[in-house]
Amino acid sequence: MESHQDILKQAQEKVLAALSPAALKEIEREFLGKQGAVAGLLASIPSLPAVQRRDVGKNANLLKKAIQQALAERGEALAATSLSAERKGEGFDPSLPPASLMTGSLHPITQVTRELEDLFLSMGYSVIDGPEVELDWFNFEALNIGRDHPARDSQDTFYCDEAGKFSLRPHTSPVQVRAMEKLEPPFRVVAPGRCFRNESTDASHEHTFHQMEGLVVGKDISVGHLIGAMKTLLRGIFHRDVEVRLRPGHFPFVEPGFELDARCPFCNAGCSVCGRTTWIELLPCGLVHPKVLQMSGIDPEVWSGFAFGLGLSRLVMLRYGIDDIRHLLGGDLRFLEQF
Ligand code: FA5
Repeated sequence: MESHQDILKQAQEKVLAALSPAALKEIEREFLGKQGAVAGLLASIPSLPAVQRRDVGKNANLLKKAIQQALAERGEALAATSLSAERKGEGFDPSLPPASLMTGSLHPITQVTRELEDLFLSMGYSVIDGPEVELDWFNFEALNIGRDHPARDSQDTFYCDEAGKFSLRPHTSPVQVRAMEKLEPPFRVVAPGRCFRNESTDASHEHTFHQMEGLVVGKDISVGHLIGAMKTLLRGIFHRDVEVRLRPGHFPFVEPGFELDARCPFCNAGCSVCGRTTWIELLPCGLVHPKVLQMSGIDPEVWSGFAFGLGLSRLVMLRYGIDDIRHLLGGDLRFLEQF
């Protein structure tokens, strides 16, 4: 059997020759591991004559400490050398490309929402918010849509309770009511946000989508003001005149009511996005119904107003040429990384 001095000499030579922390780990395993030389010495003790046992045991422990010390000193020396080399710039290749960072980007809906908010803020509007789980009063009743009004059917509402008191708002129009109940006229507000409808989804219909509500209350507000605001909105987003058409539309909370459609950018003769009509329903609007003003405590003899409910998700589709609304909230990174 090798003496403990021989083992120490071997270990010290190997430690001095080691050039990396990994090599030191390997030496540690070889001499101090479970199958290592020191463990071998200790395992031999029971078979030795009783007089030798004490010395061999003591020497094995001294050997272990000496090897541990040699390993630690060499480890410190290697660390100091690599740090000073790094400080001198050795091993640094400035021609290597930088490690790329994964950066996110704003969702296209957020980007267009922020652009619209800036546009409306520049025209003196305030940006307001409302709850997504809404009371029946704000969703329907105060908008002149009574319990049995057929307009409720077209909204495919997700109700949250048996009595139908709460629902996921199917449009952003309840924020109009909240604004009228809270603010003193004159005022101008926009309210972007999520809406929910129990829809059969297709290229232009989602169950969860975004709208931006707009409401202006002032004196002598006319259809001219409404059309002027709608044109400014579209020019601000598309940076060009967009072909639009205005047709009568019925919403119980406006009178007269209109539908403003934009020409479909995806086809000439009809496609799945425009439902083969070449027009995309984008911006229903109208003058606020006097009854609605009155229900919210605003005197319709003194004040009048206009309101609109922009289909924000559809506007985003038009803006970026997205041919299926379901991409927007689908969560596919290959789609989102394009923005
Ligand atoms: C409304 O929601 C009314 N609250 C709009 C309004 C506001 C009218 C103020 C008058 C005054 P409508 O159900 O048509 O109206 O929806 C408005 C717009 O939201 C549509 O033109 C369309 O662009 C968009 N939209 C409606 N349903 C969906 C859907 N399932 N997926 C994506 N966009 C939709």
